[in-house]
Amino acid sequence: MLEDKIKQVIRDIPDFPQPGIVFKDITPILKDAALCREIVDAFADEVKHLNIDVIAGIESRGFLFGLMLANKLDIPFVPIRKQGKLPAKTISESYKLEYGQATIEIHDDAFESGTNVFIHDDLLATGGTVVAAAKLIEKLGGHVAGFSFVINLKFLNGEGRLHRFSENVVSLVN
Ligand code: PRP
Ligand code: ADE
Repeated sequence: MLEDKIKQVIRDIPDFPQPGIVFKDITPILKDAALCREIVDAFADEVKHLNIDVIAGIESRGFLFGLMLANKLDIPFVPIRKQGKLPAKTISESYKLEYGQATIEIHDDAFESGTNVFIHDDLLATGGTVVAAAKLIEKLGGHVAGFSFVINLKFLNGEGRLHRFSENVVSLVN
């Protein structure tokens, strides 16, 4: 089963980036090309009925499978980046993380108003990051078509915060 395969390769790093956090390291997945393909195929299968126009991926780990998924679906990829990284005109949202605080931005011409935008990130923890991303999508007149994650840390209840934007939440490992 795909979930078991992914669980076998994810590394738990205790006390990173600060004491008390068990960091889920996905870098071993990236060394396994066949597993990466299986992951992208699984996401593509789960979302193919959603009529998605664009995948938005969140810096930095959301770029990894987000871009692969967009490419597989043959649709555009839009990067949502940490503050100060995108070169053209942006809009911003600030949020709290499991371990800190951050601001993310999107180019204000990333997509046309009315576009169906599907948000991808590697991991859902408190949900702060993707809620901020969903707010950026809606500020630009987009419709949030759903969310996908490789990992959902269910004990942090992030998923409950996403349903006001979309009921479509796909996660491969819980
Ligand atoms: C991590 C992860 C998600 C976010 C999840 O990103 O990749 O984006 O935290 O946490 P949340 O659900 O509590 O918001 P991080 O900000 O560490 O950046 P990185 O992807 O650049 O490592
Ligand atoms: N982002 C937020 N919490 C995380 C965790 N425990 N492991 C990896 N990325 C994270």
